[in-house]
Amino acid sequence: MDKVRIGIIGCGGISKCHIDGVKILVENGCKEIEITALCDENKENAKEKKNLIMQFQKNEPVIFSDFEKVISKKICDGFVLCLPHFLHHTVGIELLKNNYHIMIEKPLALTLKIGKKLVEEAKKRNLVLSIAENIRRYLGPRAIKWVIENKKYIGNIRFALVNLVIDSPFDYTKYAMKWRGIKLLSGGGMIMDSGHHFADMLLYLFGDIEDIYCEIRRYDERMIEEVPFLKKAKADVEDTWDALIKFKNGIFINWFYSRSTPGFNLNFGLYSGESGAIKDKGFVFHPFQNGADIILKDGKIVKSEEIEKEFLNSLSDEEKEKLFPYNCYDGFGLEWIEFARCIKNGLKPEIDGETGLKIISFCESCYESDYMKLPVKYGDVYSGKIENYQKEINMFWKIE
Ligand SMILES: NC(=O)c1ccc[n+]([C@@H]2O[C@H](COP(=O)([O-])OP(=O)(O)OC[C@H]3O[C@@H](n4cnc5c(N)ncnc54)[C@H](O)[C@@H]3O)[C@@H](O)[C@H]2O)c1
Repeated sequence: MDKVRIGIIGCGGISKCHIDGVKILVENGCKEIEITALCDENKENAKEKKNLIMQFQKNEPVIFSDFEKVISKKICDGFVLCLPHFLHHTVGIELLKNNYHIMIEKPLALTLKIGKKLVEEAKKRNLVLSIAENIRRYLGPRAIKWVIENKKYIGNIRFALVNLVIDSPFDYTKYAMKWRGIKLLSGGGMIMDSGHHFADMLLYLFGDIEDIYCEIRRYDERMIEEVPFLKKAKADVEDTWDALIKFKNGIFINWFYSRSTPGFNLNFGLYSGESGAIKDKGFVFHPFQNGADIILKDGKIVKSEEIEKEFLNSLSDEEKEKLFPYNCYDGFGLEWIEFARCIKNGLKPEIDGETGLKIISFCESCYESDYMKLPVKYGDVYSGKIENYQKEINMFWKIE
């Protein structure tokens, strides 16, 4: 195999970030990837993305509006799915059955049961199933992992407060928001969306979860027109929640969100340790993507730039090449080069299907807890023992 040939299915909002990531790799000397196909039922979206690709790639990707046609053409070794959540499994299973490797935008699937079908299918056929979970791949999150586990500036983490309070209702006139407002199409609201990045980072940093208690509110129940599949439906995903997440190692996290807070905004992420705290500098649902300062007990501040420099200096050339090949520090570019190399060399991606299931178990635990009005054991949700909130989605998609 010379270049790994990759197609993109779904050329909406996030596909641009994927293409920008590949651009960085190519501009830094990467010759390992070629984008050979673009598929979107909205051809204008595909054409727009083709123009972006032509700025850095010699050969034109072929445009398709029907994913079944691109499957039969055999011009790709694998596909990156940048589709609405309800199409992750419908398209993903079909691709796997046709022996294609896949990288699925987060979340893996609408429910755990559906996600397990994808994982089983990939395993049966020995195919790569990667989750396009980009946040932990950036320099900031990798540096904070190193601070907590190796540098130990502030001792063990004890608890965290992560609060995002915004006055920002979804714009339901936009396609990208129509499917996001409906549980059957999205799996849930922001807990399943940006919350997925938060869930992945917490599992990555703090390990296994004991239990989760979550209360959800849905203040925004506007009618949404022209919803895919359902035509017209009332918004029914959460817009406000408070969750208490307890880890097996004793760390506990208070995670509060509301986008229904007229006149007020707050973005606050603080991780408190034995002798200081880590203060997130960016969007707190993408932990540490924009770095974090450390505040020590004596008031001294260690700036994020200093931490990141020290972390990079601590890496061997081999470790640096593994984490940041082609000197790329972009989470999307990094997930693409890993996906291509996994296809080429038969390797397992860092965030594989099994990890994808663990991440969505975090999100589902929040929903299941709210449904039962009780704390739930994370393990009972992961195993499928608790499955009340998810039942309606599984039934709608006829998942046994
Ligand atoms: N990693 C991140 O930071 C991040 C950020 C935003 C979105 N996402 C994820 O990316 C995925 C897509 O989100 P988005 O914001 O780009 O959504 P979007 O609605 O903007 O784009 C989806 C695209 O899929 C196309 N599409 C719909 N049905 C199709 C079909 N049957 N065949 C082919 N194309 C079809 C639509 O026309 C649209 O262009 C979701 O899983 C979302 O959670 C990730």
